[in-house]
Amino acid sequence: MADQLPSSVLVVGGGGREHALVRSLLASPAQPRVLCAPGNAGIAQDVPCFPVAADDLAGLVTLVLREKVEFVVVGPEVPLALGLADQLIAAGIPVYGPKAAGARLEASKIFTKEILLKYNIPTAPAGIFDAVEPALAYLLQRGAPIVIKADGLAAGKGVVVAQTLAEAESAVNEMLGGRFGASSRRILIEDCLVGEETSILVVVSGRDYVILPTSQDHKRIGDGDTGPNTGGMGAYSPAEVVTPALLARIDQEIVRPSVNAIADEGLDYCGTLFIGIMLTPAGPSVIEYNARFGDPETQAVLPRLATDLLTLLWAAAQRRLAGFQLDVKPDYALCVVVAAKGYPDRYAKGDLIVLPAPSSLPPATTIYHAGTAKNSAGEIVTNGGRVLGVTALGATLRQAAAEAYAVCDALQCDSKYFRRDIGAKQLNRP
Ligand code: AMP
Ligand code: GLY
Repeated sequence: MADQLPSSVLVVGGGGREHALVRSLLASPAQPRVLCAPGNAGIAQDVPCFPVAADDLAGLVTLVLREKVEFVVVGPEVPLALGLADQLIAAGIPVYGPKAAGARLEASKIFTKEILLKYNIPTAPAGIFDAVEPALAYLLQRGAPIVIKADGLAAGKGVVVAQTLAEAESAVNEMLGGRFGASSRRILIEDCLVGEETSILVVVSGRDYVILPTSQDHKRIGDGDTGPNTGGMGAYSPAEVVTPALLARIDQEIVRPSVNAIADEGLDYCGTLFIGIMLTPAGPSVIEYNARFGDPETQAVLPRLATDLLTLLWAAAQRRLAGFQLDVKPDYALCVVVAAKGYPDRYAKGDLIVLPAPSSLPPATTIYHAGTAKNSAGEIVTNGGRVLGVTALGATLRQAAAEAYAVCDALQCDSKYFRRDIGAKQLNRP
């Protein structure tokens, strides 16, 4: 592991997850030059940002070569699915993030389901359909509740958990009717799993892997897990519902077999494998794979790492992850996402945000920017559905929650909306 670390790193993306990646890389004792593309208003306060979109592959490769970037860390799934890692590797640039073949684990739910079934990894039974009639017949056979999934990427909107057959039928008709274009030409209909969800982020390098601290997301927009699904409204770590014994079981039944299956399929995976798991009464079951870090899980997980993130991701990219020792702080972390009122549907952009002065923030809190931009007057304004992520570390989860919420309350933005109950499941558990 005496390998020399890169002196410059480009983070691709511009959300809260990327801000957290930037902050952790900046904290590296190796003091790398950190750059970001495209970034956002908050990331631009920390590191140079370049106006190259995350899906502009040619633009990113040109930027990397021009800026003599030695290492690229890719945040979002879209550039990975388009083949950014393939292009960087072809240009001789080390990258953390899988090639397009590996990113299919996120880009095609059918591809993933076929792998899960082939390798006997626990997951909900499912049928695959490209025509309405057999899909409706399958619905009748299985009954409600039931889950309908568009095969491809659909910006987080491609999953319908239908409580009734009528809801399920309309989801089938809409999706196979072309609601998501090519992404829903084929669909998956799978049994509804019941239980608590947990996000297991795994740093993968071929057959070697390191499991990052556990976390739990809050997908619904409203308190008490009500309303439509979102990209994620908050997260905390560790998720104590995953006891050490359960984590060992998840490792044995899901993580190790998944990493081996991915290697056996020749996907040559290097990057984060994010495994969404339902903790059902019958045991842990895979809901999905994502080919990247979670957002907002990353904003709760990375601040807990005592290990240098650059060393970890570089070891993965260099295929030297075997035996890597991860050190984790004992603190709890909790991240509250501050969204724009109206998200995940329609919301305004351009609303002024006034943040507490950095000097007035408690030392263990961080404000990560997501959908923020600067207006022509140089003020920070809202520029997306999820606007900020406020993370606090604390000796207890309750303390972390109190500190994060104090900052959420103090920041000024007319259109701010956030859930009040991030972490409540764990806080209220007897
Ligand atoms: P995804 O877009 O794959 O992240 O799925 C979005 C959400 O739908 C998941 O986080 C779960 O809450 C829910 N979901 C997906 N598959 C199932 C399933 N088989 N049973 C119950 N809920 C599911
Ligand atoms: N927070 C869920 C995701 O990143 O997909």
